[in-house]
Amino acid sequence: MPDTESFTEHLLSQMTLDEKIGQLNQITVGPDFDPDMLRQGKVGSILNGSSGVLTEQGARTTTRAETANYLQQLALQSRLKIPLIFGRDVIHGHRTVFPIPLAQAAAFDPALAEEAASVAAREASAEGVHWTFAPAVDIARDPRWGRVAEGFGEDPTLASRMAAAVVRGFQGEDLSRPDTLVACAKHYAGYGAAEGGRDYENSEISEPTLRDIYLPPFESAVRAGVGTLMSAFVDLNGTPATANRHLLTDILRGEWGFDGFVVSDWDSVAELIQHGVAEDRAEAARIALHAGVDMDMVSRAYLETLAASVRDGKVPVDEIDEAVRRVLRIKHRAGLFSHPYADPQRAAHSQPTAESRQLARRFARQCMVLLKNEDGLLPLQGFRRILVTGNFAHARGELFGTWTLDGRAEDAVPLSEALRQAAPRDVELMFETHVDLALHVAHHADAVVLVLGEHPSRSGENANVSDLTLPAGQAEFVEAMAALGKPTVLVVFAGRPLALTRQVAQVHALLYAWHPGIEGGAALAEILFGYEAPSGRLPITFPRATGQVPIYYNHKNSGRPIVADGAFRTRYIDLPSGPLYPFGYGLTYTTFRYNNLRVSDATLRNRITVSAEITNTGPRAGREVVQLYVRDLVGSLTRPVRELKDFQAVDLRPGETRKVTFTITEDMLAFTRADGTRGVEPGNFHVWIVPHSQGGLRGEFAL
Ligand code: BGC
Repeated sequence: MPDTESFTEHLLSQMTLDEKIGQLNQITVGPDFDPDMLRQGKVGSILNGSSGVLTEQGARTTTRAETANYLQQLALQSRLKIPLIFGRDVIHGHRTVFPIPLAQAAAFDPALAEEAASVAAREASAEGVHWTFAPAVDIARDPRWGRVAEGFGEDPTLASRMAAAVVRGFQGEDLSRPDTLVACAKHYAGYGAAEGGRDYENSEISEPTLRDIYLPPFESAVRAGVGTLMSAFVDLNGTPATANRHLLTDILRGEWGFDGFVVSDWDSVAELIQHGVAEDRAEAARIALHAGVDMDMVSRAYLETLAASVRDGKVPVDEIDEAVRRVLRIKHRAGLFSHPYADPQRAAHSQPTAESRQLARRFARQCMVLLKNEDGLLPLQGFRRILVTGNFAHARGELFGTWTLDGRAEDAVPLSEALRQAAPRDVELMFETHVDLALHVAHHADAVVLVLGEHPSRSGENANVSDLTLPAGQAEFVEAMAALGKPTVLVVFAGRPLALTRQVAQVHALLYAWHPGIEGGAALAEILFGYEAPSGRLPITFPRATGQVPIYYNHKNSGRPIVADGAFRTRYIDLPSGPLYPFGYGLTYTTFRYNNLRVSDATLRNRITVSAEITNTGPRAGREVVQLYVRDLVGSLTRPVRELKDFQAVDLRPGETRKVTFTITEDMLAFTRADGTRGVEPGNFHVWIVPHSQGGLRGEFAL
């Protein structure tokens, strides 16, 4: 095989204008599908294709691999035989459904996310998928936004680590292997800051905040070699992301050196008309292409208008060539010219295996966050009769979460069954989902486990809420149950942080399970009965009330910071200051003590090390996610009160002490300065080694 660049140039030199534009066109295959479009080279990519396509021979395809192969052989009948790239939303697993991305971030274990992504790549590629529209790396500070479930939370350092890991997992060491997927970092950029948490709304983000908070996960994905990016629906500071040359060309290509391609989001090229920056489809296509969007997802504005715009001299053919070059480059790197077809032998291997399930279980376990555990109620011990009640009691597919195109409910063990299997022999489990009856049965129980929360359809794309409390009726149910005075555990399944202030006061233990995926039931059972301990940490701040949003740990200090609640200090008069639970927070079944913070040098020249001793002071082995935060005290622009810079998980036996050491290098302290450049500024810094983003051991150094 010739190298990618000469291959691409050679192919490009043979292409007609129409063939070039065809490569920039992505379609879905519906009932009106015309096979000749593929034969004529008018399509470069197909997304989310399924089985059941009517072939020209009059048969219907039965599997996804068969569909992909049928469509691919049509494309390979085109003059230049350029293969299609099949894209699909393989977001948090394929058949083996892993926890939702927000939950994955809660594990604070990027290596696990990398492994999960590689399993998803293996399964999806076996069905003819070449390209996934993941990872979503949108920083989100507003849990009203439904898509908070799809990203990695509020912190740029954590999200950047996750982004790189997931890209590596999907794409593998060698993207040309048939068991990898091209990844797509989305939604570029600023999408998570949609006003009011309303999906598709505009966002206003200052350039320094854009660069220091919202862009780092994208840059990290690019550094990890991501093949593609997706432009967001959002209007960012007055220029829709799909029309935003500053983002798509100056920063992405100019500053970061990205050489893959950018796909628009669904119809977002044509939507430039609704945004009010384009008169018609032809203008929309011109603006998007010029901005740096190479492939048009489904709007067909490129296909229908670009050729005429070139002929009219409104679009330079060089712009088309550059976009085509990028698309062909990725197709070549992905090995599509040597293996365009799905291998029917491999198609059978798209299903969950014992190993993939084990990984899914480990991941689900590691992402659950224990938020409250009064008097060590968890793990459940010494209770003979336990009532399990709530809308998740028999959940299967509901455990999967948003964006699960390929998970099958029958692959998940229902929560009730998983709990039965895990319960010690002498424990009688009672399941009752009817609210009135549950209250009745509770009188006979020694402990109550409430499994409540959001149905997956209540989070994800455009599933925004104006109220972060539990879904309708559930708060009353918790209250009625708690009034019975039984030891009560609340397990919350959700795609977002919910405001649980009332419930925290009412129940004895609170475990946040997110939407944990195919093995979520088993993982939960292991944690509740103490075979395993929870170790997840919040990747996003939990507010006390909806009105506190946006609330996030890495905020600016203000001129009147909260020291204690008081008049003329930033506050609400109807709420205590601060979140319900801070970023990074999470308990486990043992406790830890932090001691002896040491900073290697008073002044940082190139690097310093910071260390602390962590001791397991409790009764059982446990995992602690040790976190490093920094504050730059004075800057040419105001700086966050804390910024996560690194984290390390340590597993400690009871009584064991371990010294945990972090290295801080100068580039870790860089930020966007008042003059717009990125770099450090000399001055004093605070540094913390802590169990979460508030409190803890503090040291100092200067730069
Ligand atoms: C979503 C994207 C997704 C695309 C393709 C859009 O509605 O915003 O995240 O990848 O559809 O399914």
